[in-house]
Amino acid sequence: MEKPEKLIVDGKRLDGRAPDELRPLKIQAGVLKRADGSAYVELGKNKVLAAVYGPREMHPRHHQQPDTAVLRCRYNMAPFSVEERKRPGPDRRSVEISKVAREALEPVVFLELYPRSAIDIFIEILQADAGTRTTGITAASVALADAGVPMRDLVSAVAVGKVDDTIVLDLTKEEDQWGTTDMPIALMPRKKLITLLQMDGHFTHEEFKRALALAFNGCEQIYEAQKRALREKYSVKPEEE
Ligand code: CDP
Repeated sequence: MEKPEKLIVDGKRLDGRAPDELRPLKIQAGVLKRADGSAYVELGKNKVLAAVYGPREMHPRHHQQPDTAVLRCRYNMAPFSVEERKRPGPDRRSVEISKVAREALEPVVFLELYPRSAIDIFIEILQADAGTRTTGITAASVALADAGVPMRDLVSAVAVGKVDDTIVLDLTKEEDQWGTTDMPIALMPRKKLITLLQMDGHFTHEEFKRALALAFNGCEQIYEAQKRALREKYSVKPEEE
């Protein structure tokens, strides 16, 4: 696609959304039989799967911590997830995203309850359209809860940014590519604690405050969908009892 002259026309974005509107969101908990916990999330054209194994004994043993569990996270893009085939295997970008995703999720998990253990999180990007790190974190926190890992809260994540001088929620690939600013954020919604904040581009102080408010609002909507997905998985319908 060629860069259009304007990314926002009459207050509407290329995909018809208002600046403060999230893409269509679908969350399903417990989609994989062999993982201890799992979740599938679609946010617009993003399709992301998260799987959790553990807590289980840490191997290799010399990585065991005597007083806490260790969270490990791998973010991976499928070769067919992007327009130009992604070469399989880790690269600088996926190593960075794996690290920031782990750091975004660590604060919610009661790691101290499982000394010498490991909790493994796998984030698989099946289809990418910008915002995959945040969608991955959203999916991973549902997968952790689905695995029964004791948690202080969920983590909800979304990107905000600036496109044609307008502050927008949840950027698409085109907006990420041609916009001026992209700011992914992860939040523990109950206490409003930010566990990830990155920024590509720049904001004035005022714009930053508006973007943050928009992100908090988006995370709130994502949080509700995450809780709904977990309730759906765990509510026993009368005919199944
Ligand atoms: O996905 P996220 O926004 O968290 O990370 P990014 O590094 O800002 O990447 C933005 C988007 O660029 C991704 O979601 C993909 O759609 C695209 N991308 C790509 O087409 N090929 C890659 N090797 C990496 C990213």
